[in-house]
Amino acid sequence: MRLQVVDHPLVAHKLTTLRDKRTDSPTFRRLADELVTLLAYEATRDVRTEQSDIETPVGPTTGVKLSYPRPLVVPILRAGLGMLDGMVRLLPTAEVGFLGMVRNEETLEASTYATRMPEDLSGRQVYVVDPMLATGGTLVAAIQELIKRGADDVTAVVLLAAPEGVEVMERELAGTPVTVVTAAVDERLNEHGYIVPGLGDAGDRMYGSA
Ligand code: URA
Repeated sequence: MRLQVVDHPLVAHKLTTLRDKRTDSPTFRRLADELVTLLAYEATRDVRTEQSDIETPVGPTTGVKLSYPRPLVVPILRAGLGMLDGMVRLLPTAEVGFLGMVRNEETLEASTYATRMPEDLSGRQVYVVDPMLATGGTLVAAIQELIKRGADDVTAVVLLAAPEGVEVMERELAGTPVTVVTAAVDERLNEHGYIVPGLGDAGDRMYGSA
């Protein structure tokens, strides 16, 4: 597994406002969307392209276009939905799959309650999005499912990560073609599995629920 922390003043600026507990849900959603776009720019650096011959108004030239098979973007429900638009804005040809996963708040174990994506992912580049890499349980289970379906190039885009989650990913996904792209790796997890200092419950802050 490869970890990439995106070091950019705009990323740091948006993340600071996201963390602020005074930031309301509409602002949180907008900033999360903007932050995803910046992270997606880095996360898609190796997206596959193919040569494309076109005519400009002035003459012929050769450029590139996103190639087939189309990349797949998989938001992990619920909070990953808030990152979907930002990803597909940069990857307009992408197909979208869905994974519904929930974390048991006592055991912190992840379980899957919904799956909607192609059975065969061989040869596909897959971008899985979830705001928080906390214990790593959800993301490891999601990525194992993608690899089981044949994905051979998986990039996880997360807003924030905890060192404990990164360690679990490194251990459980050792030797797999997985990259994690994040805006920051925070200090630690607290006893409730929340990232410290983090930004609280990403889903609740996005959707204004508790
Ligand atoms: N999920 C969240 O939404 N926030 C955390 O800090 C950890 C997991």
